[in-house]
Amino acid sequence: MWGRASGVKGGRIFGRVPGGSPPAGVNPDEDVVPSAESRTAVARVIAVTSGKGGVGKSNLTVNLGLALAALNQRVIILDADLGLANVEVLLGISPPCTLYDCLYRDRDIREVLVPAPGGVQFISGGSGFLELANLDRARWQRLLTSLALLDNLADFILIDTGAGLSKNVLGFLAAAGEVIVVITPEPTSLTDGYSLIKVLARFKVHREVLLAVNRAGSEQEALATVRRVGTVADRFLGLPVTYLGAIHEDRAVIRAVRNQRPFYLAEPRSQPARSVAAMALCLTGGGFREEPPRPGFRGFVQRLARLFDR
Ligand SMILES: Nc1ncnc2c1ncn2[C@@H]1O[C@H](COP(=O)(O)OP(=O)(O)O)[C@@H](O)[C@H]1O
Ligand SMILES: [Mg+2]
Repeated sequence: MWGRASGVKGGRIFGRVPGGSPPAGVNPDEDVVPSAESRTAVARVIAVTSGKGGVGKSNLTVNLGLALAALNQRVIILDADLGLANVEVLLGISPPCTLYDCLYRDRDIREVLVPAPGGVQFISGGSGFLELANLDRARWQRLLTSLALLDNLADFILIDTGAGLSKNVLGFLAAAGEVIVVITPEPTSLTDGYSLIKVLARFKVHREVLLAVNRAGSEQEALATVRRVGTVADRFLGLPVTYLGAIHEDRAVIRAVRNQRPFYLAEPRSQPARSVAAMALCLTGGGFREEPPRPGFRGFVQRLARLFDR
């Protein structure tokens, strides 16, 4: 089962060569970029999460969003994590309205959407309220009804969630059709990542977990890290873990944070930038993987019920 990390090609298996150029036989211009006609109307909603904070979720979300936009995808990034170096800081923007205005002040979510560098659109999470209060079921319904208005405005909606297992984080994970779990090779990140995957396995709302390794010292270390988590998850949890790619420990990330200009734009030749480009290719298909269904946020009702009725 765990052959997925090994680069086997075909079907839904898409173990990737992290940080490399596009896979052999794939021409990004011809094969990967879907034409406007072939696009489905409803967005793929992908939550980026981690067991432990500070592992690189926000940097991955922003730069993956930019890499998807470069593949001609319409991308909305939703910041649902207000931890360290949040998305608007990384993008160097400061939106006037946030999700808070939408939830508590009746603002239409489409008015909260702002253009960001690199052709992506962005929704700010607002000043910490997602961290402070657990939204109740009614507020979730309202939030997700608002978010469903975005389904036709994007091909991908990336949600940068907080770390850990708070009800709000779990709500966003349940609302998303796909989940990327970010881990680093640190033992604490591995154990926290595994605990998170265990909860996702219990949810039974996702058919697989996408795993991204950040701050890897080398390709070997990244693969060893993925194997450690993936083997256990496959064997004991029955939830397939698919390796999406690895970003190496690289000063380009630190410079990007400091300069408030994402590394995908500032240093496109860096390993981190090439790695997110490869991840974006994987997500858009490129012949490696069946496209998952695109339920957008509309499919949330059953998923939400599962979360709150457990
Ligand atoms: N690949 C990397 N190489 C070097 N430093 C990194 C890398 N990824 C993250 N960092 C550092 O870790 C910090 C936290 O990253 P961030 O994306 O904000 O994490 P999270 O969103 O998970 O809290 C960054 O500001 C940066 O200094
Ligand atoms: Mg963050």
